[in-house]
Amino acid sequence: MDSRVAPDDVDASESEVSGLAGHVEAYEKDIEHVLISEREIQDTLKRLGAQITEDYRGKDLVLVGVLKGAFMVMSDLSRHVRLPLEFDFMAVSSYGAATQTSGVVRILKDLDHEIEGRDVLLVEDIVDSGLTLKYLLRMLAERRPGSLEVFALLQKTDVQQVPLQIRYVGFEIPPVFVVGYGLDFAERFRNLPYVATLKPEAYRDVVGG
Ligand code: IMP
Repeated sequence: MDSRVAPDDVDASESEVSGLAGHVEAYEKDIEHVLISEREIQDTLKRLGAQITEDYRGKDLVLVGVLKGAFMVMSDLSRHVRLPLEFDFMAVSSYGAATQTSGVVRILKDLDHEIEGRDVLLVEDIVDSGLTLKYLLRMLAERRPGSLEVFALLQKTDVQQVPLQIRYVGFEIPPVFVVGYGLDFAERFRNLPYVATLKPEAYRDVVGG
């Protein structure tokens, strides 16, 4: 099954929207559409986890998560990778309370361990302009890992500013701002089990527009 989401397919079904109340009732007024359901995410992670299991058999795999957004996908994906592996995390600055990329990447937390000679799979929540990923890949490559590949749960189409090789892509989405499944707006919505868009009022409430 092709898991990539075409713009025409992204409207939420009634049942998905009505299921919101049972999850975080306080968020319900802010959610516009469920773009990718919990079921779709979990099915895709299972499929890609099985592929990673095949690709990395016999390798020295280190999953490197980019905090905070990737914590949820890292957790679920890793349970589908049936191999010995290690975790490490980096934290980088992102948009703050705004929804536009600044192109400035600040390392807030570096890796705990050396990666020289190891097989690094960088796990990203979302690739938007690609600037964050480009910066991280250059930085990690300088540490001479045995291999360096990227997993991105979401990749926005038609917005990549830099050409990038992303080996595993969960879903391609239109260039809209999304929240949930680790992704935030002003630090909220990360605990939603699905990916959704927000109503315009939700942004105004936070940024005071
Ligand atoms: P890029 O450098 O423009 O590719 O942005 C990458 C980072 O920006 C991601 O790791 C997220 O932290 C954040 N980001 C980009 N798009 C979104 C979005 O739609 N929702 C929430 N965060 C986003």
